[in-house]
Amino acid sequence: MELSARPIYLYLIGYLLFFSQCVTKNSTAGLTTDPVVAEKYADPLKLVSPFPIGTVMSLSTFGLPQALSIVKTEFSSVTCENAMKIQATQPTATTFNFTESDSITNYCLRNGIRLHGHNLIWHQSLPAWLTAFQGDSAAWENVLKSRITTMLTHFKGRVKSWDVVNEALSDDGLLRVGVTSSNSKASLWAQKLGKDYVARCFQYAHAADPDARLFYNDYGQEYSPAKLNAILAMVKDFQKRGIPIHGLGLQFHTNIQRSDTDLKNAIAQMATSGLLIHISELDISMNGSQSYSAPTPAMLDIQKSRMNVIAAAYKALPASQRFGITFWGISDANSWITNDWPLLFDKSYAKKPAYYGFWDGLKL
Ligand code: XIL
Repeated sequence: MELSARPIYLYLIGYLLFFSQCVTKNSTAGLTTDPVVAEKYADPLKLVSPFPIGTVMSLSTFGLPQALSIVKTEFSSVTCENAMKIQATQPTATTFNFTESDSITNYCLRNGIRLHGHNLIWHQSLPAWLTAFQGDSAAWENVLKSRITTMLTHFKGRVKSWDVVNEALSDDGLLRVGVTSSNSKASLWAQKLGKDYVARCFQYAHAADPDARLFYNDYGQEYSPAKLNAILAMVKDFQKRGIPIHGLGLQFHTNIQRSDTDLKNAIAQMATSGLLIHISELDISMNGSQSYSAPTPAMLDIQKSRMNVIAAAYKALPASQRFGITFWGISDANSWITNDWPLLFDKSYAKKPAYYGFWDGLKL
């Protein structure tokens, strides 16, 4: 028995080795020509995932058939990359332009895709009229309140969740006001409106649309315990004072050097707030201190494994807290990070190892 079984056994090992090499080769190149791989990963992300999986859209996405087809096939949630920001929606203090944001929102609704609002108040992307604005504190308060009220009123019923305030804290956990050693960018909002403006933004948003889920969105929870703790403390303070807040966005613009432990801790710690958790702008870049002209197979594999860890750690959260995971871009051809490869699809819109890693993490 043993003797006659041996050749079959060896043959099988040989076959498996050969086969696994084919899979590795194909997946490293981002190709899905292997029918077994294609079959295994036939279900798109949105069907495999028990929570929404998102990406960003701009007006330019409509002119990119491959990108648009990925949006429709793979994703169940969309965030406007720039179209809802103050620079895009408010040409003057008192006039609004919703052409771009409406067309993306309505496209999503027609296609059964959730649209998450991003963002109402941010220290960046400010129009020239705002940086030059000369009003007193009451006039600034009026700009803040009317922006939030007009946005929520306009999108009421179509957009049910908002990043109300974006990046209000510095890496040292203090409110971002002026430029400091741990904060290279100042916030005009904090300078003009004082320490408690973040809370007032949430109150104005809630008053304009009591049904909307309101998020505080920021980056760095995976590398700055000071910022992570400051966000949790802010939530506690808001809850004590009856300020409405329902969710926390972890942007997760990260890189392959970041450890699995850092990523997992950030997700688990933020979830101790009990609020909805949104991994809101995920990308994992590869170029760090050293710059490559193309990703190596080893780099693609680390990226794959980081994506896997993030998906699995997020899936381990209570279902009631899983608002979703949103990628900040569709393919490496459309990322805001240039000269890098931070997303799930390569520049030719083929699935990367990162895609398979993320998919496997969702499926675990
Ligand atoms: C970025 C966009 O991707 C760029 O196109 C734009 O030039 C600048 O803003 N954190 C955020 C996002 O909350 O709004 C930013 O988006 C990326 C960092």
